[in-house]
Amino acid sequence: MTLFSSSRAAAAAFALLLAACSPSADKQADSATESGERMVAPVLTGEDAKDIHSFARPEIARVTHVALDLTADFQNKRIGGTATLDVQAAPNAQEIILDSKGLEIHAVTNAEGQKLQWALGAADPNLGQPLTVQLNGAEQIKIRYLSAPNAAALQWLTPEQTAGKKHPFLFSQGQAILNRTWIPTQDSPGIRQTWEARIVVPEPLKAVMSGENMTPEGAAVAGGGRAFTFRMDKPVAPYLIALAVGDLAFEPLGPRTGVYAEPSMVQAAARELVDTEQMIDAAEKLYGPYRWDRYDMIVLPPSFPFGGMENPRLTFLTPTMIAGDRSLVSLIAHELAHSWSGNLVTNATWSDFWLNEGFTSYIENRIMESLYGRERAVMEQALAWEGLQKEIAAVDGGMQSPATRLHIDLKGQDPDAGMTGIPYDKGAAFLRTIEQAVGRERFDAYLRSYFDRHAFQPMTGSLFLADLRKNLIKGDQALERKLMLDQWVYQPGIPSNAVPPPTQAFAAVDQAVTAYAAGGAVTAVPFQGWSTSQRLRFLNSLPRELPAARLAELDRAFGLSNVRNSEVLFAWLQLALANRYEPAVPAAERFLTSMGRRKFVEPLFKTLLAEGDWGRQIAERIYAKARPTYHAVTIGSVDALMRPAG
Ligand code: BES
Ligand code: ZN
Repeated sequence: MTLFSSSRAAAAAFALLLAACSPSADKQADSATESGERMVAPVLTGEDAKDIHSFARPEIARVTHVALDLTADFQNKRIGGTATLDVQAAPNAQEIILDSKGLEIHAVTNAEGQKLQWALGAADPNLGQPLTVQLNGAEQIKIRYLSAPNAAALQWLTPEQTAGKKHPFLFSQGQAILNRTWIPTQDSPGIRQTWEARIVVPEPLKAVMSGENMTPEGAAVAGGGRAFTFRMDKPVAPYLIALAVGDLAFEPLGPRTGVYAEPSMVQAAARELVDTEQMIDAAEKLYGPYRWDRYDMIVLPPSFPFGGMENPRLTFLTPTMIAGDRSLVSLIAHELAHSWSGNLVTNATWSDFWLNEGFTSYIENRIMESLYGRERAVMEQALAWEGLQKEIAAVDGGMQSPATRLHIDLKGQDPDAGMTGIPYDKGAAFLRTIEQAVGRERFDAYLRSYFDRHAFQPMTGSLFLADLRKNLIKGDQALERKLMLDQWVYQPGIPSNAVPPPTQAFAAVDQAVTAYAAGGAVTAVPFQGWSTSQRLRFLNSLPRELPAARLAELDRAFGLSNVRNSEVLFAWLQLALANRYEPAVPAAERFLTSMGRRKFVEPLFKTLLAEGDWGRQIAERIYAKARPTYHAVTIGSVDALMRPAG
């Protein structure tokens, strides 16, 4: 690639200007709404803000706004049309570099329709290809393109893969670096962009997106189909642009909340999600105004590879969170919490993913405590803490492993490699440690001010620590020593000042485990009277080796193989399969062929594969059936297990 050394000084000056143009994003937000002008969010220039997972050079030219005009073609599994990008370029900038992966580029023009030169560079297996466009002075560029049928961000479902079985379905998943497979833009979380979209879909399907829905019913298009338009006037990280298309019904829940789902699912979804409005109120009391206007959710078909995805204004959800008793709604608290940590203040690079997920896991638990009380919240903390210990023990090197740092090195790796439980649970433990050291009142006030100071801006680990020192620690040397901040962020393991969550809440369960493990009767275990957290604690704490007769009596007594709660079923299957307990195999097969949530699918296949020929044979058989129904994200993880490279 050419380096325009003559424009370097200008680019550096431009970078300074970008960094300086927003001391307070709140002021920007205000002026943007008052003047109707678009907010331009800053790009950070520090060394740890450089995103190695994007080809973009935002210090030379950056995208500030994306306008999509696309048609979803279910026959060919392609979405295509035009992306019109507003470009802010340094003086003398010759070109802009975008991210793309598998896109078929047909033409690039300026706003007047004049052709611009463009080229796709060498392909990297993780990152895709740089799409370099010669600007020739253009401030807007229009790209005509088509996504590939195997675009990793998109899953095109057949009618059989939906609840209604009559209509196809499409959803996108952008995080971490998948959106470049359907949107040619700078796909870096530190380069925030406003956006708008017009999406044409076949009748009678509806399109929904992670922005303001301008035409809930759509508008008929000459030549067939309906067009839906959306807009997001706040600058967001591009991984947060999301689309779903299907036979969708909507059920309002509260003044600013509601849920979309296939018609046969929407009532059950609405019953499960009744507390959402209250969750927003609780979060606002703690951390300041909800700045995204509405908070709607969509329950997707079961192949959705995650529990939830915090797409702004429209959280995407797995149907496996519908337990019938609202016992898994911490997932909603979590995705809602991202409206502050993640969507408002965003990790500048995937090395600081913990700034999104650790903060969010902490806030999730605070919301749970507000709504359901301390006992339930502490139980959920304790489950996460136990999971963290197990996860650290399972990585090579344990507490010494660099994978247990909060700020991680992802050189040469897909960001997916860093997406373990560690940023979630160690990150939350870090914030709880600070909370306990300074007191709740002071820490809550600090966090609220942190979100105000950095609203609609990217964040790095080092900037967070600097902000904490400036606004919370304020030179208190004793406090500084007590917090061990750098150790938490940059060193592996769990620092010595971590405070494990209290486990008294689980005392009765732990006693039952001890008694049962010592040969006690199954009838002495009050499983049916327990909450979901208690049931999970029980199943996860039982000895990992149990004879078939004992597994059979547990299964019979508590109906484990037929349990509706996906988390409880998962915990049971992990235990049963690790003991080669044959009668649980049909339940495992049902579960693994009825949903594609990676958090459940990957560990269950891993467990089977650890059980020699017995397990491998079952795994191969089930995977052959299930693989075609899974999302690319889940397929990638399970393929790596089944056919390890080399
Ligand atoms: N943002 C994540 C999902 C994600 C992470 C997608 C990394 C792509 C890459 C979301 O907020 C999340 O953490 N979901 C969890 C649920 C949560 C309660 C721990 C999940 O999907 O299980
Ligand atoms: Zn999350």
